[in-house]
Amino acid sequence: MTESATTTMPATSTARSTRNSSIVFDNVTKTYPGQTAHALDSLSIEVRSGELVCLVGPSGGGKTTALQLVNRLVDLSSGEIRIGDTNIMDLSPIELRRTIGYAIQQSGLFPHYTVAENIATVPTILKWDRKRIEARTKELLELVGLTPVENWLKRYPGQLSGGQQQRVGIARALAADPPVMLMDEPFGALDPITRVAVQDEFLDIHRAVGKTTLFVTHDIDEAIKMADRIAILKPGGLLAQYDTPAEVLARPADDFVAEFLGAERGLKRLALTTVAEVLAAGRDRRGSSPVAAAAGSTEAGNPVSAAEWPEVSATMTLREALSLVSAAHAQGARVMDAGSHLGDVTLHELICPPADDPARTTEGARI
Ligand SMILES: Nc1ncnc2c1ncn2[C@@H]1O[C@H](COP(=O)(O)OP(=O)(O)O)[C@@H](O)[C@H]1O
Ligand SMILES: [Mg+2]
Repeated sequence: MTESATTTMPATSTARSTRNSSIVFDNVTKTYPGQTAHALDSLSIEVRSGELVCLVGPSGGGKTTALQLVNRLVDLSSGEIRIGDTNIMDLSPIELRRTIGYAIQQSGLFPHYTVAENIATVPTILKWDRKRIEARTKELLELVGLTPVENWLKRYPGQLSGGQQQRVGIARALAADPPVMLMDEPFGALDPITRVAVQDEFLDIHRAVGKTTLFVTHDIDEAIKMADRIAILKPGGLLAQYDTPAEVLARPADDFVAEFLGAERGLKRLALTTVAEVLAAGRDRRGSSPVAAAAGSTEAGNPVSAAEWPEVSATMTLREALSLVSAAHAQGARVMDAGSHLGDVTLHELICPPADDPARTTEGARI
């Protein structure tokens, strides 16, 4: 990759980078001055180009340190970090940070700048012309769901809700179209409902723009929902496990990971599969008449007949569908999409999803 290739990349949100923008930690250790314990201990992981990796672990586990080593807010003690083929030490901190979008908890917006001025921070430093900055700002507000954009441009952060500030923070981090995003508990301060909305928004953006993303969270459910792969750090900054959510949940590397995942580990796995996937797998097995087959499998004496099973949508996770089936005391669910009946799934299919079949793990789909 040459420098000119970097600068001529179109700054549109939809441009999927073909450059190598992986983040590689190569035996990285950080010990803060005056400390004997390591904050991060011999970390070696690769975040592949376009991948979203969540870094999780208990407070003090070295997550923020790992992130800040990448943009050189913190200096390495030993080891090497590369973005693509470039050692981060070969760039000045300023050059380096131009290639990195950084979003943090509480959004970190400048309170005396308007929304538009906040988003324009890096493009202004890069001396983009006014028209280009204006167009990019509007494009980003659309992308993060703050529309109509004219309603938001001139507001100050103090005039926004937490979720709206967070969206502007993400827009600002994306502004100069950096190939890499670092996010440090960006949704940590949000209430649960706003949090889900902003997570969904961010996942949509991530799928559209495909930036290499290292995302810190202490919330394992957030990591399971968002991540292609999860890196779990334990106290002392040691890597406990690095794998897909499905693998981590199915095969925790040690007692620390199992405890960190919690007693609901089995249920959390059900959040990785949708009803639509189970329905498709059932069709494969049963042939062309899933409804009759599912209804036929209903046990005699079942108090709720298949025709009265609760309705679930195809996009629901198995965990959500199971909750409805349990509340209805039923043996399965009717899968609906915009008012039409797609088929049925049985209780057994909901609790033993196709992901349990090693040949069909979500890992295969994610890599
Ligand atoms: N500037 C600093 N000086 C000294 N120790 C620090 C500094 N920043 C973090 N630490 C220590 O490094 C360890 C990891 O901290 P941090 O990376 O913030 O963890 P996390 O983000 O996982 O909560 C902790 O023990 C913390 O006290
Ligand atoms: Mg932290």
